[in-house]
Amino acid sequence: MTDILQHDHAYQPEALITEDIEVYLDRHQHKTMLRFITCGSVDDGKSTLIGRLLYDSKMIFEDQLAALEDDSKRVGTQGGAIDFALLVDGLAAEREQGITIDVAYRFFSTEKRKFIVADTPGHEQYTRNMVTGASTADLAVILIDARKGVLTQTRRHTYLAHLLGIRNLVLAINKMDLIDYDQARYTTILDDYTAFAKSIGIEAFTPMPISGFKGDNISQRSDAMPWYDGPTLIEHLETVEVGVDEAQASPFRMPVQWVNRPNLDFRGFSGQIASGIVRRGDAIRVLPGGKRSTISRITTLDGNLDEAVAGQSVTLSFADEIDCSRGNVIATADTPPEVADQFESTIIWMDDEPLIVGRSYWLKLATQMVSATVREPKYQVNVNTMEHLAAKTLDLNAIGVAEITTDRPIVFEPYSDGSKGPNKELGGFILIDKITNATVAAGLLNFSLRRAQNVHWQPTDIARGDHAALKNQTPRVLWFTGLSGSGKSTIANEVEKALALMNRHTFLLDGDNVRHGLNKDLGFTEADRIENIRRVGEVAKLMTDAGLIVLTAFISPFRAERDMVRAMLPEGEFIEIFVDTPLDVAEARDVKGLYRKARAGNLKNFTGIDSPYEAPVNPEIRVNTVEMTPAEAAAHIVRQIMPLK
Ligand code: ADX
Repeated sequence: MTDILQHDHAYQPEALITEDIEVYLDRHQHKTMLRFITCGSVDDGKSTLIGRLLYDSKMIFEDQLAALEDDSKRVGTQGGAIDFALLVDGLAAEREQGITIDVAYRFFSTEKRKFIVADTPGHEQYTRNMVTGASTADLAVILIDARKGVLTQTRRHTYLAHLLGIRNLVLAINKMDLIDYDQARYTTILDDYTAFAKSIGIEAFTPMPISGFKGDNISQRSDAMPWYDGPTLIEHLETVEVGVDEAQASPFRMPVQWVNRPNLDFRGFSGQIASGIVRRGDAIRVLPGGKRSTISRITTLDGNLDEAVAGQSVTLSFADEIDCSRGNVIATADTPPEVADQFESTIIWMDDEPLIVGRSYWLKLATQMVSATVREPKYQVNVNTMEHLAAKTLDLNAIGVAEITTDRPIVFEPYSDGSKGPNKELGGFILIDKITNATVAAGLLNFSLRRAQNVHWQPTDIARGDHAALKNQTPRVLWFTGLSGSGKSTIANEVEKALALMNRHTFLLDGDNVRHGLNKDLGFTEADRIENIRRVGEVAKLMTDAGLIVLTAFISPFRAERDMVRAMLPEGEFIEIFVDTPLDVAEARDVKGLYRKARAGNLKNFTGIDSPYEAPVNPEIRVNTVEMTPAEAAAHIVRQIMPLK
């Protein structure tokens, strides 16, 4: 057997477990906890290092150990010695069945501390995994393969860790055994890394030469590197100070997860305290509304408390009956967080599909979920040089800065505000694609835009309802969608004539017409079509505010934007009309000769040919233009929307 199996373990928890279980459990319970993440490229030895940590802390069960020895002999990548990577990769197989989990958390402990290490697979989707793991980490171990030195991945991971506010960085220069424990090489890599770290504002980090495979400087000081006099990795992990008190020192904030109302006598608001301390009798505000009250009761599973601190899950009751619901934030009355709907943000794009400027995504921040659109990025960061590059969008793994607008004001704090640790809860968000439900980006709110703070809603005396009442009608948007040449404009025109005969006040917004004026700066790229529909949606909304029945005839090929316009209007005012004409029929008609041009390659991005059309899933009205003439289709629509009072 090799030296690995025979070496003495620095920690012998099992001795204490058998001698005095009570003492062991008591000690274990009061240990502090360190959450950390290991970052490296695919072959930097991450799995081996984590396997080694688990093994050295005796957190491998006997049966796993036996299997590990067998596998190591059989697979034999390490010449019969234990291959720690097999341990971790073997555990990873469990995860593959779960599919949705990108990050596996492994637990181990030593005499002094408990640890949770986020194992983030280093393959293609590395950035997503790393961001997920880093979002809760106190410390990051940046692994470098001593044979390769500082790589792009090293810089990317360091930059991300720093961006996400991880203050404790360990630079573990690994595989020292493969370069004969060469101090000169170690120093060269360290100098390289130090220069980079300085350039992005990292003031301190802890470097160490290790071998995860041989166990050098992991739990045992290495005899092979007498020139290194720093701590072993485990010593460092056990003793490094983590800012546990920072969260408690910050002002009190709790995002509300749900309203707890089991009976008429009890009403409480449940959630996990994001920061600060709350006591019975404290003055609070509920945001974004801003209503004030005082805390009358703090309830937990273990009974009522006089005070509760960051990290605890509690139910708070107020002295007054004020509105408070899921997504609201309860905060100390003196120094509440900000409320805004426009921000500068740093965005880490994590999806194969690039960012679509102007598209509406779900933005989730703490327990708040709102619609949000991202503007064209101000710049993208080159992680090798830290240069700011011009960018029209953000591709997979890109990191950029862009303005973001939400459809409602949200409660937030800048992710990083200099002096103290990051405001992860109220400063970090994710973006979710509305159609696929995939998490496409993680982001940090940098600050709110002043222009939002200085523009207020101006009340007017003649309101929406007055305009409609004068016209003696209920405003509506009749939203026609369908392929080019499907008959939208023709049918919408017929419907408008019928409504005019009934003394309805209408207006028809037609794609080709609007593109001669308001939208003459837009073409047919995905981004331009989205902006086209956004503007038309806003105009249609203004027209309904004026009391009109608006008809719109636009291809409007994307579900997300049609749904966005629907969400802008009061319930029931948006009527989606699918002019259902199969592509071959529209193409055979080819009224404007555009299909011919597109097929000949003389017209790019043509809907149905080389640009997609997403048919409505559940339109209010569908007309089949193969079976109906335009007049019949119009009559059918008018019947469906009647009585139009
Ligand atoms: S949308 O996709 O942005 O909703 P919109 O309805 O405004 O399109 O404009 C579509 C009209 O523009 C078509 O009916 C056609 O006359 C014309 N057109 C010109 N180029 C294209 C193209 N590449 N794809 C679709 N329509 C085009």
